[in-house]
Amino acid sequence: MNTGAFDPIGAICARARDAGAWVHVDGAFGLWARTPPRLAPLAQGIEQADSWSTDAHKWLNMPYDCGLAFVRDRTALPAAMAITAEYLPTDTPFRNPSDYTPELSRRARGVEVWAALRSLGRSGLAEMIERGCRAAARFARQLSEAGCEILNEVVLNQVLVSFGSPERARQVIDGVQADGTCWCGGTVWQGRTAMRISVCGWSTTETDVDRSVAAILRVARSLP
Ligand SMILES: Cc1ncc(COP(=O)(O)O)c(C=O)c1O
Repeated sequence: MNTGAFDPIGAICARARDAGAWVHVDGAFGLWARTPPRLAPLAQGIEQADSWSTDAHKWLNMPYDCGLAFVRDRTALPAAMAITAEYLPTDTPFRNPSDYTPELSRRARGVEVWAALRSLGRSGLAEMIERGCRAAARFARQLSEAGCEILNEVVLNQVLVSFGSPERARQVIDGVQADGTCWCGGTVWQGRTAMRISVCGWSTTETDVDRSVAAILRVARSLP
């Protein structure tokens, strides 16, 4: 997830199935690629996996700790998670939510997730994901045209930008964080230290990208 790249999940699932292994797809960002038709082929094959996880508190912009787990075998989660005690009711006519998570007590996070999905709808969700990816491509194009090296193939919402030496990358990242126009972290990929741009705010506009690129270049060019 450093770069937004995808593994050939279908082929991996086929080999894992032959070996009797369980395949889990950590789709924190990647699972959402299935929503816009243009990006869906990136995550082709995930339907063959045994389980997926993703976060509603990332690209869906929900409050923190809205993690989601999907397991093909409906008995697996209750077998692992359910807690029994004499004083806990087990004979309810409803699905018992605590049979599916590590927690017995928790707030109704699902309501927020439901509301976001319900209000966006299938097309609104796809458009939001597309918008983030278009913004990432715009970052990459403008920074590349300005002479920066983009290390990764930008397929999703992540852009890795090199500024030469690791020290210089660190200085640019620190400078951008202090500047405050946008926030970018650092990473190391294939031995190269880089700035990692991850576009996941629903309200990020093309103007925001342009202002952010200008800020990044201003910081980079101000360094000796
Ligand atoms: C691929 C991937 N998996 C898991 C996580 C962890 O998610 P959380 O911090 O919500 O537990 C992240 C966080 O960025 C991620 O990118």
